[in-house]
Amino acid sequence: MVAAGLPHIKHQPAESQPCFATMDIDIDTPSSSPRGRPSSCAGIDLRCLLSVVFGGIFTVFLLGASQAALPSASLFLQRYSAATQRPSPPRFAYLVSGSKGDAARLRRCLLALYHPRNRYILHLDAEAPNSDRAELAAFVAAHPVLAAAGNVRVVEKANLVTYRGITMVTTTLHAAAAFLHGPGAAGWDWFINLSASDYPLVTQDDLMDVFSRLPRDLNFIEHTSDMGWKAHARAKPLVVDPGLYLKTKRDLMWMNTETQKRELPTAFTLFTGSAWTVLSRPFVEYVISGWDNLPRTLLLYYGNFVSSPEGYFQTVACNANEFRNTTVNHDMHYISWGEPLGQHPELINATHWGRMLGSDAPFARKFGRDANDVVLARIDEELLARQPDMLIPGGWCMGNVGAGSGDDHCSAVGDATLLHPGLGAARLQRLVESLLSEDNFRPKQCKIVEHNN
Ligand SMILES: *[C@@H]1O[C@H](CO)[C@@H](O)[C@H](O)[C@H]1NC(C)=O
Ligand SMILES: *[C@@H]1O[C@H](CO)[C@@H](O)[C@H](O)[C@H]1NC(C)=O
Ligand SMILES: *[C@@H]1O[C@H](CO)[C@@H](O)[C@H](O)[C@H]1NC(C)=O
Repeated sequence: MVAAGLPHIKHQPAESQPCFATMDIDIDTPSSSPRGRPSSCAGIDLRCLLSVVFGGIFTVFLLGASQAALPSASLFLQRYSAATQRPSPPRFAYLVSGSKGDAARLRRCLLALYHPRNRYILHLDAEAPNSDRAELAAFVAAHPVLAAAGNVRVVEKANLVTYRGITMVTTTLHAAAAFLHGPGAAGWDWFINLSASDYPLVTQDDLMDVFSRLPRDLNFIEHTSDMGWKAHARAKPLVVDPGLYLKTKRDLMWMNTETQKRELPTAFTLFTGSAWTVLSRPFVEYVISGWDNLPRTLLLYYGNFVSSPEGYFQTVACNANEFRNTTVNHDMHYISWGEPLGQHPELINATHWGRMLGSDAPFARKFGRDANDVVLARIDEELLARQPDMLIPGGWCMGNVGAGSGDDHCSAVGDATLLHPGLGAARLQRLVESLLSEDNFRPKQCKIVEHNN
């Protein structure tokens, strides 16, 4: 069952049936990386016990969550009892992007997503004034926890991003490369691309708890090869993204669509899906270094594609033998497209609450710019236990430290590996179990349909 018995390939994808613990063999990277260590389910229970010992308000959540969240933990324990080492919780590398007028909600999003073990890159595109970037950087530098942990970077030299253009993808790749190789690059396990109009529905402790039981090579990429109307409307026209070479923002430039259409590709299969993904580190390394050139070839191809962010990662993952088996067909978001299905997501308001929570997704979009948005306030209060303008609490919080910190329990970092998962972990666990079930995982993975013309 565990990958160790299989031939050595670079990144051993999750084996035939879903399991929440597997060995991810990676012979090329230093052993300091959290991958390559067996993840153990035994560790989870130990952590739960530890958390109970620490007590406090979270115990109540925890008891509720651990029962609901781990219905089959004993099964996994039996299967993987050989694995004994308790893995440290996974780390996430977040890119959060915004544009003109987004500085305030970008900051709020950061506070709601924060954990001292994670990495963050904040990108306000070139349309936002420099003063916004400077203010954001000053905020991070002056914040006691953010500054001490030193894990938030504000991109100073902003990219120009063209709506539906390849510059959306290159901006994402820029951050991915910085997370891998830039100053302060450090260990992380999953790369998550969000915008200022996204918001979390679970705490980072919830996310880390559930992801600590997953094979670390899984990629959450919503995808289909059924291009439908997109084959004509998106794959055949040729566009040029001026954001690649101009200093000021322009719209996509369209070639004459009557005479200058291109054929659908035959050298690879097109996939399309959601622009929102959760990507594993091995996959991000592959996309950035492109050792068999597929990621680079496809980047060039998508350079003239309409809405490339909805296809690039999908097409790379599903055409790469090494990664096809690691895709989970979901984007980890609640997005409301309306009835009938629209082209743009609806702004989330109070009427979406039930469906949003019922989706069990860890993130939602799209939220507007209103700082007093009632839904965001309710998420902060009921789902995240976050006070206005404060960091989201977690097991890492070390109580009330320093003068003037008032009610803030999170003014200093204690043991950052200590998790206090709550009800959000139970919801997310339910989603992940459903996605990795026999009905969903393999059957929905990179399936090829034949009728795209
Ligand atoms: C990444 O996030 C941004 C949001 O800022 C989005 O517009 C983009 O399409 C996303 N996806 C990709 C593949 O770049
Ligand atoms: C991916 O899964 C398929 C079907 O389960 C299997 O035949 C194939 O060998 C797997 N590929 C890799 C690289 O593990
Ligand atoms: C909530 O959003 C939906 C979809 O955009 C809209 O039809 C509805 O009127 C909104 N409700 C309120 C109370 O704003």
